[in-house]
Amino acid sequence: QKGGYDFFMQKEIFEQPEALKNTVMPRLHNGRADFSADNISDDIFKDINRVVVTACGTAMHAGLVGRHLIESMLRIPVTVELSSEFRYMNPILDDHTLVIVVTQSGETADSLAALRLANERGAKTISIVNVKGSSIARESDYVLYTHAGPEIAVASTKAFSVQCAGMYLIALKLAEINNMMTAEEMAAYCDAFQAAIDTVAPVLEMDEQIKGIAEKIKDTFSAFYLGRSLDYAIACEGSLKLKEISYVNSEAYSAGELKHGTISLVTEGVPIIAIATQENVLPKLMANVEEVKARGAHVIMVTDKDMSSYEGIYDDLIQVPNVDDRFGTFGVTVALQLLAYHVTVFRGYDVDQPRNLAKSVTVE
Ligand code: F6R
Repeated sequence: QKGGYDFFMQKEIFEQPEALKNTVMPRLHNGRADFSADNISDDIFKDINRVVVTACGTAMHAGLVGRHLIESMLRIPVTVELSSEFRYMNPILDDHTLVIVVTQSGETADSLAALRLANERGAKTISIVNVKGSSIARESDYVLYTHAGPEIAVASTKAFSVQCAGMYLIALKLAEINNMMTAEEMAAYCDAFQAAIDTVAPVLEMDEQIKGIAEKIKDTFSAFYLGRSLDYAIACEGSLKLKEISYVNSEAYSAGELKHGTISLVTEGVPIIAIATQENVLPKLMANVEEVKARGAHVIMVTDKDMSSYEGIYDDLIQVPNVDDRFGTFGVTVALQLLAYHVTVFRGYDVDQPRNLAKSVTVE
């Protein structure tokens, strides 16, 4: 069942090139997003003045990725709300609001309740769902299915990557329907998207190197993930992955927030995982990295950028292939999943069944 792998999580990490290909390739045609086989009407993307993404846990982090992309590229305001908060905050919704529910199982109780509220209030609803025919898929106006195949491990890996891919597809559709990108821009976007997906397999080949880095930090009590803009979303996901399976006290911080309190937690040897895929904030991020390094942190850089001018201010380097900054998500995410996986194996815990957690959270 595990196909030669030690754990389902490991198998699912390695299935990502296939999962991404199955989710994305049938929907990219001639430089545009094609949802005709999904029976998603263009109307849902028209007349929108804002987007609300609602989800829980890892799926919410895919929403953060989507927000960064849609806001920075399309200039449509996006908010991302935890479903468990959204449903109790009396949200302002109308038929100019596109609500996107992101969920692997399609059965998460809070996300289902959030969807029902959005439907009741007349918002347009579309869900990004992995499990066919699930409650959230059935009750949304439209569904964009991710084709990750069954995800067994409690910690979500391949489902996250394809949820992000779903966000990138929806962003392209929004751009097309609302004339926000030229044909050339859309074609370039599709090329960059495919190129980014193609970097996942080479990142998987870095498994042994990442395992070596995991061994160095395996005994830590705490760890911090840093990033800015899109990389902050990835930091959140990387940190959740580590804490939920390895029980390391891990937190993600926007690098700029360090000085507002967090840096007091940085002591000799504490692992700091710094994510750098965004050129425009790279010097700022590296200034923060220098500050934590000066306090004795063990800095692990995870990046697709050339780090030669920053040598000496990090301890370990996970160098993934360079991609268009908009698509920095895919490669570094996989590297962070492998890091969390190996730390957990070294610590001797059950990777697939972390304590107190269930795969599908159908209670509120
Ligand atoms: C973390 C994880 C959870 C789920 C969350 C939402 O690895 O798997 O945080 O992402 O419980 O589940 P779905 O996507 O099924 O709604």
